[in-house]
Amino acid sequence: MSKPRVLSGIQPSGNLHLGNYLGAIKNFAANQAQFENYFCVVDHHAITNPQDPKALYQQTFDVANAYLAAGLDPKEVTIFIQSHVPEHTELGWILNSFCYFGELRRMTQFKDKAGKHPEEVGVGIFDYPVLMAADIVLYDANFVPVGEDQRQHLELTRDIANRVNYRLGEGTLVVPEPLIKKEGARIMGLDDPAKKMSKSATTPRNYIALTDDPDTIRQKLRAAVTDSGSEIRFSEDKPALTNLLTIYSLLSDTPIPMLEERYQGQGYAQFKSDLADVVVEALGPFQTRLRELDSNPDYTLAILRDGAARAQAQASTVLRRVKERMGYVLPS
Ligand code: TYM
Repeated sequence: MSKPRVLSGIQPSGNLHLGNYLGAIKNFAANQAQFENYFCVVDHHAITNPQDPKALYQQTFDVANAYLAAGLDPKEVTIFIQSHVPEHTELGWILNSFCYFGELRRMTQFKDKAGKHPEEVGVGIFDYPVLMAADIVLYDANFVPVGEDQRQHLELTRDIANRVNYRLGEGTLVVPEPLIKKEGARIMGLDDPAKKMSKSATTPRNYIALTDDPDTIRQKLRAAVTDSGSEIRFSEDKPALTNLLTIYSLLSDTPIPMLEERYQGQGYAQFKSDLADVVVEALGPFQTRLRELDSNPDYTLAILRDGAARAQAQASTVLRRVKERMGYVLPS
């Protein structure tokens, strides 16, 4: 029996951080055997914000290398760069005609980015969720593992897929479901537990980058904001400690109640120092592998090229299915 299919993607923009790791990458690797997997580096999404060309180039490798360093097996899993498979942009264009202006205008991420100057926000940022829908449905993906911040985009993808099926006939597209874990799906900023940990944060104190060295990790955790009081407890009125406990628990595989018990009566300093040890230890092997991969870009590129060929074989079937049903004259 064939396995259910999974697709996810990460933007090569800014530094990958612990939120990306716990909300996405770690789960991709942990669950790979259950699924038929497609993971892409979504470079067309990254350029919706201006990118320095050299940085975009390097960050594209960084995301691919993070997939590999986390343990995704390139023989089993298809890892590729979005722009290597032009079907993404072509289907993205077609899906624009199945999506409404009002739907895109309501997207929270768009509203955040548009901020106070909605007239000056890029059309690419506005249209971004439609390309994301194309990324997913091109692979007949059943599930999409993501962090909480992508839930609304997944709902839109489902609406678009249902609309396509209604107009072009059932079975045109698979309607995907989000796979959002209960823990780790929304890791918050170390400098402000009311905001998510983010690649585009204004200060590096917001996040632990996956490439931070042990000293930097210790320093950032020492400086992390805590809540008033001194209790180490997981609760709504303690958002900072709740976040730190979540990170501790996921990286050490220790249930949160056990941690609460272990740190009863102890101060924040000891807790933060132990948490730093846990983070350093958990990221150690990943970082070693990342450095090896970073020194051999040809190896990664070969995997990405092979992945693109496999991805395109699948994506072209779905694009053809959609175009045929719409009445396009196909070239062959
Ligand atoms: P991106 O590149 O911003 O983030 C990559 C993944 O990391 C998750 N994530 C987090 N998880 C927990 N806590 C956080 N603080 C945190 N920050 C980020 C994200 O939810 C995501 O899973 N639109 C997507 C990229 C994309 C995509 C796709 C995803 C394009 N096409 C198709 C899935 C399927 C994005 O910007 O993710």
